[in-house]
Amino acid sequence: MGERPYVIDELISAKTIAARIEALARDIESYFSDTEKLVVVGLLRGSFVFIADLVRELHMPVEVDFMETSSYGNATTSSREVRILKDLRGEIEGRDVLLVEDIVDTGHTLKHVLHMLSGRKPQRLKVCALLDKPARREVEIKADWVGFEIPDEFVVGYGIDYAQSDRNLPHIGAVRFTE
Ligand code: IMP
Repeated sequence: MGERPYVIDELISAKTIAARIEALARDIESYFSDTEKLVVVGLLRGSFVFIADLVRELHMPVEVDFMETSSYGNATTSSREVRILKDLRGEIEGRDVLLVEDIVDTGHTLKHVLHMLSGRKPQRLKVCALLDKPARREVEIKADWVGFEIPDEFVVGYGIDYAQSDRNLPHIGAVRFTE
């Protein structure tokens, strides 16, 4: 197993994440309290851990669906072109939808996906992002619920990767390059 050319400094502990998700779930439940069944849409791959914990905290009927968009590749800079690699399996017309994103960075991904999903005429379409890096924003867009605002740092863990590694860390850490 190769050594990482970087170290990871813990930014947000697993315990802090869990407590924040409980609070987010209470807010989301109360907003969608009159909903028959909420469609929770995870944006792959970075949101898979977050969505798993979030839906288990939501004490209401939910279904889960996924989309995948093109992402960073292996670089730490954001690509502006957003492509849909995997679309939803289900229909969302007339449904209440919660889009779950790992990080809102430049905002291009969220803007593109929201535009596409709103064209399918959901009843309500809201966004919950685990992390928000407002300093990096290039397009005006905001998640309705945010777990944590973080500074302009490259982060990994809790589902989030650097070059497909470190998604399995239970906490969120900042990448510090050592060479
Ligand atoms: P945006 O389109 O620039 O907002 O980028 C959103 C996507 O970029 C996120 O869903 C992540 O997959 C990825 N991303 C943004 N910042 C980071 C980071 O610090 N670490 C790993 N992936 C990131």
